[in-house]
Amino acid sequence: MSDGLKKGLTSYGDSGFSLFLRKAFIKGAGYSDDALDRPIIGIANTASSYNPCHGNAPQLLEAVRRGVMLAGGLPMDFPSISIHESFSAPTSMYLRNLMSIDTEEMIRAQPMDAVVLIGGCDKTVPAQLMGAASANVPAIELVTGSMLTGSHRGERVGACTDCRRFWAKYRAEEIDAAEISGVNQQLVASVGTCSVMGTASTMACVTEALGMSVPGAASPPAVTADRIRVAERTGAVAVQLAKSKLTPDKIMTANAFENALRVLLAIGGSTNGVIHLTAIAGRLGIDLDLARLDALGRETPVLVDLKPSGLHYMEDFHAAGGMATLLRELKPLLHLDAMTVTGRTLGEELEASGEGFKQDVVRSRDKPIFAQGGIAVLRGNLAPGGAIIKQSAADAKLMEHEGRAVVFENLEDLAKRIDDDALDVKAEDILVLKNIGPRGAPGMPEAGYLPIPRKLARAGVKDMVRISDGRMSGTAAGTIVLHVTPESAIGGPLAYVKSGDRIRLSVKSRSIELLVSAEELAARAKANPVTAPVAPRGYRKLFLQSVTQADKGVDFDFLRK
Ligand code: FES
Ligand code: MG
Repeated sequence: MSDGLKKGLTSYGDSGFSLFLRKAFIKGAGYSDDALDRPIIGIANTASSYNPCHGNAPQLLEAVRRGVMLAGGLPMDFPSISIHESFSAPTSMYLRNLMSIDTEEMIRAQPMDAVVLIGGCDKTVPAQLMGAASANVPAIELVTGSMLTGSHRGERVGACTDCRRFWAKYRAEEIDAAEISGVNQQLVASVGTCSVMGTASTMACVTEALGMSVPGAASPPAVTADRIRVAERTGAVAVQLAKSKLTPDKIMTANAFENALRVLLAIGGSTNGVIHLTAIAGRLGIDLDLARLDALGRETPVLVDLKPSGLHYMEDFHAAGGMATLLRELKPLLHLDAMTVTGRTLGEELEASGEGFKQDVVRSRDKPIFAQGGIAVLRGNLAPGGAIIKQSAADAKLMEHEGRAVVFENLEDLAKRIDDDALDVKAEDILVLKNIGPRGAPGMPEAGYLPIPRKLARAGVKDMVRISDGRMSGTAAGTIVLHVTPESAIGGPLAYVKSGDRIRLSVKSRSIELLVSAEELAARAKANPVTAPVAPRGYRKLFLQSVTQADKGVDFDFLRK
């Protein structure tokens, strides 16, 4: 009998009878004693009609099962929550912690010696790694892989950086309704995750850097043979993990998180990656602090030339050798002794990955896309707990900027006024949006990418400084200050900014300052105190009571270690 079937045995005083019942029920599905006497590999299956990013999950599942059986294990798949960015109201982030709880508890509840987690779309991989970290059963992540790029009138397009670019053209009346509908057909050319360096691709890369997936697992597109082979290998490695009992806490160490942050910075990765890594680390009692992120950022150049910071798409990164090419370039900056799921260290895997070759997607360190890491951490009286900016995707001219605030109180206010021709706004103003933080919206929606007011867009304005307590899609670009902490909905200084106030952004000195005196801010707070939102029942009540700020990963306080 494998350890797996005995795990977590509820005996109610008679463990022999309990095991007897377990076997009786599982034998109802036709399993033999021989099959059950093997390492049991759970496989979290997140296939869902609502999740085209996981549209290849059935093929991956088949390949994982094959890999498990070839290695002498017994595969047992089970469903878990599946979250797609576009079909998760009010926001996918609102559901990430719920999925992490589902994942953690089902790993714990069901007999398994190791688990394969099939994820891909933005919130799913972090949710699974958070759950796996807390359950601490040997685990391995398998991402679904990126979608293919499409073609619009001969121009290569992919979700979702080009979604935004074309929509901005449509808003500026540069293209018509017929053309935008043609573009819509091409942006998502196959199943799989967004084809640029958005959050899904970012999490795929940092998961490999963390050591939680097999080497080479980050980059193969969803519909390729390479992706299926990664799935088969993942199944085989899971059986090895079941035997070695190499648990997530031995892989996801403080050094592994530093490697992951290095990679996040070097790929020009999604700002969401910072929140997710903070949340995963928090499950293991590791504090990722923003000061350290900024310090790493100052010495880690952006090397991967992918949209939105650069030019290419994930399939090009794969053709260029994927993570092995990048890790070889970053080698002097990495902790090479960090353990991986294969039982070999990152350094040993890198050694085994062979030689590099000539390619033009991953730059060398002396010819970076951007000399510093993609993300800079800002502080100041507007964000005492920190804020971040994706400097690699920002307009260089706006990174040192002072301007007049044009304030929107919340998303409804923004929708009502942003395109009003009467709005008092100029290109050099700073757009401020409140109440889109963790508790504000709730769930910290990706609304930090405020649209350029229509009248300015028509006049050719492409970028403005924008500030909020929300997030931004990893596929977006612009001079956008995000994750302002503490958020306005709980009375952070952002709550008290008024239109006409002056704000100064200096990426060079890493500061974001509201040029209003502390006395005046205190008087405003006294005159209009903020009441934090609550809910009468259900998940929303739990969420609003327990969610932490961005600097703690937007996890629930009771789930952190
Ligand atoms: Fe799923 Fe972009 S919407 S990865
Ligand atoms: Mg996204």
